[in-house]
Amino acid sequence: MVDPDPRVAGSGIERLRQAGIEVVVGVEEAACQRLNEGFVCRILHQRPLGLLKFAMTLDGKIATATGQSQWITGPSARAEVHRLRATCDAVVVGGNTVRCDNPQLTSHGHGHNPTRVVMSRQLNLPWPASLWQTEVAATVVFTSLDAPAAPAAALTKAGVEVIRLTQLTPQAITHQLYVRGYAVVLWECGGILAAAALKDNIIDKVWAFVAPKLVGGQAAPTPLGDLGINQMGEAIPLERLTYRSIEEDLLIEGYVKRA
Ligand SMILES: NC(=O)c1ccc[n+]([C@@H]2O[C@H](COP(=O)([O-])OP(=O)(O)OC[C@H]3O[C@@H](n4cnc5c(N)ncnc54)[C@H](OP(=O)(O)O)[C@@H]3O)[C@@H](O)[C@H]2O)c1
Repeated sequence: MVDPDPRVAGSGIERLRQAGIEVVVGVEEAACQRLNEGFVCRILHQRPLGLLKFAMTLDGKIATATGQSQWITGPSARAEVHRLRATCDAVVVGGNTVRCDNPQLTSHGHGHNPTRVVMSRQLNLPWPASLWQTEVAATVVFTSLDAPAAPAAALTKAGVEVIRLTQLTPQAITHQLYVRGYAVVLWECGGILAAAALKDNIIDKVWAFVAPKLVGGQAAPTPLGDLGINQMGEAIPLERLTYRSIEEDLLIEGYVKRA
């Protein structure tokens, strides 16, 4: 494929051709684009590719009404998530997911560990927590300007990078991760933050695991909080879909269709 970076686009190919070397472009074009989609997104949109992953029961719940979510899917689907993390530069959750799940967000030996990112407004985060074990993997906490100093200092002492932002939004975090040179950011948050990320237009791809389980409960959370959609015609469509069964679970992958 031709490098989409305007600084080089096509010039390498041209030089090779001028040297008498035959260059064929467009072979398996779609597969090439997919292989490089994080890089392409950085070049075209000046931000990393955003991937939203969630696991839900067949009745569309990502946790029980008490907020307990471990485990919805089986071991093979979870291992697939570990492999997915190894292909990402960062994995993002919100403070509530840290409080409810105490996640590790590592690749569990399947490859490199992404930087673990937490968004929390007031830093009312549990102590201890797996994410503060920075010898396992790096952790960055993004917080607001007025978050209290004591938890920020304790996190910093544990080796966690604490960054205060004027605007604590998924878009602002995405920009921060772009500046770090990241190409693929995995959002493994709950529905409130996931909806905010979608509304900020920084999600390009969805990985939805569906487990053949029913938990019910009107108060049990769903993959997405309010998106302000009132008509089915306003629903966000996904395209280029793939369906994979992983033991008893189903993985649906798709790209957010842009207008
Ligand atoms: N099954 C799954 O795939 C899955 C995955 C993740 C989570 N969960 C479940 O989801 C539930 C938690 O859901 P949640 O939606 O509260 O998740 P979350 O991932 O904790 O996101 C919400 C939190 O993000 C922080 N935040 C910071 N800036 C924000 C902004 N601009 N907009 C929105 N949030 C911002 C806040 O943390 P502070 O309150 O600290 O300020 C807020 O409470 C738990 O029950 C957990 O078990 C399930």
